[in-house]
Amino acid sequence: MTALITGPTAGIGLAFAELLAAEGTDLVLVARDEARLATLAERLGADHAITAEALPADLATSQGRAAVVRRLTEDPDLDLLVNNAGFGLNAGFLDTSIADEERLLDVLVRAPLQLTHAVLPGMVARGRGRVINVSSMATWTPIGTYAAAKAWLTAFSEGLSVELAGTGVTVTAVCPGLTRTEFHQRADMPLPGIPDFAWIDARTVAREGLRAARAGQVVCVPSKRYGAAALALQVTPRPIVRGLARLSPHADRA
Ligand SMILES: NC(=O)c1ccc[n+]([C@@H]2O[C@H](COP(=O)([O-])OP(=O)(O)OC[C@H]3O[C@@H](n4cnc5c(N)ncnc54)[C@H](OP(=O)(O)O)[C@@H]3O)[C@@H](O)[C@H]2O)c1
Repeated sequence: MTALITGPTAGIGLAFAELLAAEGTDLVLVARDEARLATLAERLGADHAITAEALPADLATSQGRAAVVRRLTEDPDLDLLVNNAGFGLNAGFLDTSIADEERLLDVLVRAPLQLTHAVLPGMVARGRGRVINVSSMATWTPIGTYAAAKAWLTAFSEGLSVELAGTGVTVTAVCPGLTRTEFHQRADMPLPGIPDFAWIDARTVAREGLRAARAGQVVCVPSKRYGAAALALQVTPRPIVRGLARLSPHADRA
């Protein structure tokens, strides 16, 4: 069994990599930081007697995405694709550069679109395979282009699951709430005052995400408390959800 994971050097992607390696799954690991990738591949390979291949690529660039697409189409035996790499912007739309917005769109939307398009034909031909798209609870919140991108990823996964019914191939959107990773620190987005119980750990997200994918579940919200929150967001009238969203730090322009 072989899996390709984007963004495995930290946080949720690292948790997926460690769980899969411990099960004996060979890995193709995609991220930008070559040194970190190489160390990770070496450690997982040695600890679990698997083949762990480092594939350095920047998914915000067309060359980086093309390298991963090439790797996916070359490997006829890939069983699992985890589209996980991502980041956030700590500013509202009016305060970000269009270059940063496009980089966000490239990593959160264009990369999963292109990688999934590359991997599915082989999986469908073999009648088995799984795609996990690490989306977010932000799917149901009108907060910035990050949320719009994650809403796209969740809708994309749901649409594909309908199209793939009966093929033996499944697509699962995993929608975590606040998870302890490097995400907020990288975005220079300290979140003081968020109580401890609001955070979940990356291993919980990866474990529940894998379980959901194996059960053929289309949308998975890890942890009971975020499951309840996601349900509440989906049944609350949108004007109320938008009113709540106005309390977010980047919605204070009058
Ligand atoms: N943490 C949360 O609260 C939370 C909640 C909901 C959803 N999520 C989603 O979970 C996913 C993983 O995030 P995380 O929280 O685990 O963040 P993280 O700890 O910051 O890890 C992000 C990973 O993505 C890789 N990455 C970032 N930009 C990349 C690029 N341009 N090309 C290739 N790889 C790139 C990073 O590696 P390099 O820097 O080496 O490239 C790293 O391995 C993201 O899609 C995020 O939106 C996170």
